[in-house]
Amino acid sequence: MSGQLSGRVAVVLGAGSLGEGIGIGKAIALAFAGAGAHVAAFDVDLAAAQETARLCEEAGGRAEAGAVDVLDDAALTAAIAGVAERHGRIDVLHCNVGLGKAGPSAATSAADWRRIADANLTSLHVATSAVVPVMSARGGGVVLATSSIAGLRDVGYPHLAYGATKAAAIHFMRLFAIEHAAAGIRANTVIAGLIDTPRIRKTLASSYGGRSFDEARAARAAQVPLARMGTAEDVADAALFLASDRAAYITGTELLVDGGLAATVRQAGT
Ligand SMILES: NC(=O)c1ccc[n+]([C@@H]2O[C@H](COP(=O)([O-])OP(=O)(O)OC[C@H]3O[C@@H](n4cnc5c(N)ncnc54)[C@H](O)[C@@H]3O)[C@@H](O)[C@H]2O)c1
Repeated sequence: MSGQLSGRVAVVLGAGSLGEGIGIGKAIALAFAGAGAHVAAFDVDLAAAQETARLCEEAGGRAEAGAVDVLDDAALTAAIAGVAERHGRIDVLHCNVGLGKAGPSAATSAADWRRIADANLTSLHVATSAVVPVMSARGGGVVLATSSIAGLRDVGYPHLAYGATKAAAIHFMRLFAIEHAAAGIRANTVIAGLIDTPRIRKTLASSYGGRSFDEARAARAAQVPLARMGTAEDVADAALFLASDRAAYITGTELLVDGGLAATVRQAGT
């Protein structure tokens, strides 16, 4: 398959979906494979990673799958080293895993905080530490992360540990980009707005005060100037652009994929 990432090797962490449908990591893996990359799809859920790899191949792309929990530093480092050993290169790393715990902060324990911070922030350090020598040796590469509108704004319900660590991830990527620019490594963050993914389908009703799924979905869409939730593919398109040479002069910044949400203040009921 030829395309913008032809001949390149891309690692996607959190490349599966929680159940049926297309989550953001899965869509990113499919977009990278569709653009010609060999995709190493990693997920804590091996079957989910394998499903992503299968779909990449079914669409004519090349992919492999592996089980990796990004909370396991040694396993994460070994997984990235394994891709580098097998292929001799890693051109793109996309860190897509995000954990959170919605609800009043009093119900978020210190152990919850550490787990969320490790997944959303420390794993960026572990994964990038493993990939920097590989990319530097070949003159550069691209590192991307998925952050959230919750890292910029209150999203209408308490989500403090998630929001604070997703905010930190954005700044991590900026500072990482500056530190490694001389090595030819670009780093940017895709900030996703309200996206319709399998995870959201599972948690939406409870996040929106116990409303039915359809009511909660309508309430989510109504907040967005473009009047709909985003799709995982909307986010993947932005990731593909940032991963490609089209974004050769873009580093240390963010691309918001939110249907205009962050640019607006809305009155209740409008
Ligand atoms: N869905 C949204 O509305 C939305 C909005 C903004 C940002 N995001 C961010 O986008 C990313 C993807 O979200 P999503 O809703 O598509 O799916 P998700 O976060 O529910 O799941 C993506 C995949 O990550 C895997 N995963 C979970 N914990 C892992 C771990 N410890 N190690 C490795 N893999 C793990 C899951 O098994 C799943 O296959 C996350 O970072 C999330 O915070 C999502």
